[in-house]
Amino acid sequence: MSNQLEKVQELIALREKARLGGGEKAIAKQHERGKYTARERIAQLLDEGSFEELDMFVQHRCTNFGQDKKHYLGDGVVTGYGTIDHRLVYVFAQDFTVWGGSLSEAMAMKICKVMDMAMKMGAPVIGLNDSGGARIQEGINALAGYAEIFERNILASGVVPQISAILGPCAGGAVYSPALTDFTIMTKGISYMFLTGPKVVKTVTGEDVTQEQLGGATMHSTKSGVAHFATEDGEEALQLIRKLLSFIPQNNLEEAPLVKCEDPIDRLEDSLNEIVPDSPNKAYDMYNVIGAIIDNGEFLEVQRDYAKNIIIGFARFNGQSVGIVANQPKYLAGVLDCNASRKAARFVRFCDAFNIPLVSLVDVPGFLPGTGQEYNAVILHGAKLLYAYGEATVPKVTVTIRKSYGGSHIVMSCKQLRGDMNYAWPSAEIAVMGAAGAAEVLYMKEAKEQEDPKAYITAKEKEYTDLFCNPYNAAKYGYIDDVIEPRNTRFRIIRALQQLATKKLTNPAKKHGNIPL
Ligand code: HXC
Repeated sequence: MSNQLEKVQELIALREKARLGGGEKAIAKQHERGKYTARERIAQLLDEGSFEELDMFVQHRCTNFGQDKKHYLGDGVVTGYGTIDHRLVYVFAQDFTVWGGSLSEAMAMKICKVMDMAMKMGAPVIGLNDSGGARIQEGINALAGYAEIFERNILASGVVPQISAILGPCAGGAVYSPALTDFTIMTKGISYMFLTGPKVVKTVTGEDVTQEQLGGATMHSTKSGVAHFATEDGEEALQLIRKLLSFIPQNNLEEAPLVKCEDPIDRLEDSLNEIVPDSPNKAYDMYNVIGAIIDNGEFLEVQRDYAKNIIIGFARFNGQSVGIVANQPKYLAGVLDCNASRKAARFVRFCDAFNIPLVSLVDVPGFLPGTGQEYNAVILHGAKLLYAYGEATVPKVTVTIRKSYGGSHIVMSCKQLRGDMNYAWPSAEIAVMGAAGAAEVLYMKEAKEQEDPKAYITAKEKEYTDLFCNPYNAAKYGYIDDVIEPRNTRFRIIRALQQLATKKLTNPAKKHGNIPL
């Protein structure tokens, strides 16, 4: 065998060794835990055969606690680039078979390298997290590594999309990198995110909780809102990333991919002409409106189980990706509260950062009143949504379906917050408040002096309804651009989006605004 051939054989052997990560035993244990290895996950995520691995020979440099006697090629993370639907992405996958995927200085360097490349090339970064946190043996160097990653998350925010999948434990400071990214996907029963685990919680506060209760996928997708998606398993999480990216551009200077649209753009949806119940107190399901107007009914909902009174997600009109924000009258009457405002505000800002037009479907009775909301700073959370809509420069199309009252009318992408096309259905009620509340505030005193106070209030309610609870009063002032037939909604939105394709609007130059946090 020639010298060169020998060297080639040596390379092949080293590569094989690196591909085994923490070794066959550790891989078997990972599979027993119901988890895939880092490389298996990357293979499921990317287009077949597209992965190019980097830094396979990197090793840690720690000498504490006998670490110098133990090395794994590539250390605890697999990094590189590949494609999803033929579009470039950068990826890092923590390898739990190497010291529980715990973060070393060398690992951080590998992750930072792909993040820097993603920024240079203008492509998304996908992080597959499965890690016991900072590598304890490395001490401060591991912490410094985290900080290097966080800084890059921050600088990449709004420049390239960042997506995190949590496919195992994610403890300590490790949770902050996913929290800084745009979307976090967790897998039920296998992934956990918490600042500190149940044992420390018990010591510090005396509280008894399981990992699942403290930071499981169900908790984070229903109560905290930290997770945008909760999937049944890891494979579903990886397929979801592929789907999510299909709605999103590569970076903030590009547009989302245009998809061929088979759904007729002038499809009339007769059911919409009768969807709104006669009684203003009766609900209908906003999902039926969304499903009827978007391309092929295909809706990728974000944070489905959190703050269900507002619906957010991606859809397409004539093949063009849009972000949908819709009040849900079926849940808490579609009222805006702290969580709904926060949820929608972040989504609006994501869409605005990445040139994705916003379509808002409005049926909102107002903000939820009471101490519960005020103590939790509903003023600030509501202001976040107001800020997000008002700041957004992407095309904004608003359709008011029924109620649009008071402050919530303003917040939900009204004309004066630079709404581009504001449509209303004939069933719309655009007013300071509902008729019952208005009549009570204005005429209760007077009513008490009448022979039949109830009849008097009812008459005043009707007077208020006739005057204000319709779209024409707002249309009279040009605050509504047109009152449209509900069954035409799809066509009118598509027309509006076509018209707005060349929209140019910039905000005043500044370092950055000061959104109420
Ligand atoms: C070094 C670690 C490690 C860590 C796990 N391992 N976490 N090694 N540093 N942080 C090693 C284990 O010793 C074990 O090695 C292997 O990984 C697999 O771990 P197991 O415990 O056997 O697995 P499992 O039972 O599934 O439990 C996983 C776990 C648990 C829940 C993650 O290992 C755990 O609680 N780890 C510590 C979590 C933690 O407190 N991290 C520090 C957070 S502080 P062997 O050789 O036996 O296979 C932090 C600060 C960052 O992150 C701040 C940034 C701002």
